[in-house]
Formats: sequence, structure tokens, C-alpha cells
Amino acid sequence: MPGTIELTAFAKDTLKGLLAEEKYLLPKYFYDERGSQIFCDIMRMPEYYPTSCEYEIFEQQSGAICDMIEPGQGALEVLELGPGDGLKSRLFLKSLYGRKPDLGYVPVDISAHALQYLRCKLQDELPGLQVNEKAGDFFHVMKQFAGGNGISRVILFLGSNIGNFYPEEKKNFLTLLSAMTNKGDKVLMGFDLKKSPTVIQNAYDDPAGNTRAFNLNHLLRINRELDGDFDPEAFEHCASYDPVSGAMKSFLVSKKEQKVHLARVDTTIVFHKWEPVYMELSRKFSPADIKKIAKDYGFNVLHHFTDQRNYFTVSLWVKD
Ligand code: AVI
Repeated sequence: MPGTIELTAFAKDTLKGLLAEEKYLLPKYFYDERGSQIFCDIMRMPEYYPTSCEYEIFEQQSGAICDMIEPGQGALEVLELGPGDGLKSRLFLKSLYGRKPDLGYVPVDISAHALQYLRCKLQDELPGLQVNEKAGDFFHVMKQFAGGNGISRVILFLGSNIGNFYPEEKKNFLTLLSAMTNKGDKVLMGFDLKKSPTVIQNAYDDPAGNTRAFNLNHLLRINRELDGDFDPEAFEHCASYDPVSGAMKSFLVSKKEQKVHLARVDTTIVFHKWEPVYMELSRKFSPADIKKIAKDYGFNVLHHFTDQRNYFTVSLWVKD
């Protein structure tokens, strides 16, 4: 019963979202074991262009990115927020390490398993690189890094993960990013660009149904962890893109009037017919949007490294 048992953050956030007037769930909870597998399937789909575009940028332009970063004589640390398997950042690290063999690398990830995998890969590929990983929620870890440590930093935040933040989270994230950088420090951030709505729509409503499965898996996670009785078949996946704001929003829409009971928290949720649950924001940006974001938090855009189709940019910023 609420109040008599200690609720996990997942339980609290899920209840808050499903009891809100406009129902929502938090995208960070997509990534249980099955959700992470489905996300890997999404990244391999031909329709889901962001991963291959960002990979192309690092494969072809890591040298140019490093030239522009101008690693000087002093100590330099690359701090990466949410590297996952580091497929793209390893290309960049290889290039930078070639110019600066005393480089330090601090990957920060919620998954200790991902960090262990990354350490093994780096030991093979760049055996001399000093790796000092930190496991944990990166908002939490970013607070510990505020003020800096006197060492120049390059902060990596790739994958257009910035697009998944709701406005308040985005503000908190950028405020922390600003607090952990000093004048001259650099940021490399991946942004998915505004483009043909059809291209975007197909990436989030794929014919193989992987994105639908990704969303429905969130309901299965609730069933498992909160002893719920969601019937995934009673919900329809809806992906809708607004070219004005650049908001790609995913919803699960209840196909009927229904009640879902979450036994572990002794709560029943009522869904009206065609009531949506907001599942995820995957925002797209224009170069002007990016310039404004950088400026608002004390950075200047040095360059946009884009793929051949201009679908994605890795934006290089310097702290004022
Ligand atoms: C992790 N993130 C940047 C992905 C995105 O494109 O918003 C998650 C995703 N959701 C559906 N497909 C991919």
C-alpha cells in the first residue's frame, strides 16, 4: 500500500505519470534488459537514421573535430555522459589520443555493465588511455563535477539524447553542463536535425514494429515490477511529428475504456477510450535552435559537423 511500503523511484514516477491529468511515462524507464535489446534493433533499422549518421560523422571527421578542439600542452580530460558501448566516441578517442597520449577519459553511465564492456574495448584498442569510469545517474554525477578540477575538459553528449529531455529536465541538464565547464572547455553534442517530416515519421513508426514494441515493453515492465495487468494489445502506438517545434512525440492510446490494476502499489488506473499516454519526446533541432541553446548557457558554437545528408549534427561548443 502507498505509505506503508518503501516505493522505488520507478514506482513513484510511474504512479505520478499515470495519475496525472494528462497521462505520461518517463522515457528513461524504457531501458530494462528487453527494452535495451529492442533499442539495439531500432538502431539497426534502415529507417532509424540517427545512429548511422552520427557514426558517419565520427568515422569521417574525427580528425577535423580534434583539429578544432586544439588540444594544447596542458592536461586534458574527455568526460562522456551516457557512452553506452562507445561505438562512436571510440573513433573520436582514437583520433584525440593520437595527438595527446596523456589524455584522460571519464565515461559516466547508469549501467555498470556498459562501463565494463567499454573498459575492455578500450584496453584492446587504446591500451595506454587512462580510463576512470563513474557508474550512476549522470545528473547526480554532473553535480559532483561542478566547478571543474583545473584540467581542461571536452564533454561528450552524443546520440541526440538531449532531444529526449522534457523542457524542465533539459534546463537542469544544461545548467549543470554550464556549471561543470570553465572558459575554453569544449562540448561535443549530438543533435538530430529538423528534416523531411516523412523521414522522421518513418524512423519512429517503422514497418517492422520495433518502435511500437519498444513502447509496449514499458507497459510490460510496469506489469512485472508493479504487479500490473496491462494488456499491451489494448493500446495503439502513435508517433506524431510537429515540424514547427520539432517535437516528435510518441504515445500509447487506449483502444477502449479500461481499468488497469497495479497490485504492488494497490492502485487502479482508469483509461478512457482513445485516451493517450505520452511516452517519449524525441525533439529535432535547427542550427539556429542549437545556437540559441548554446548561447543561453554560456557557450559559443564553433562548428557543426554534419553527415552527407544533413540529417544530424555533432555540434562543437566552446565555453565563454
Ligand atoms: C535514445 N534516443 C535518442 C532515441 C530517440 O531517437 O529519441 C530513443 C528512441 N525512441 C524511439 N526510437 C528511438
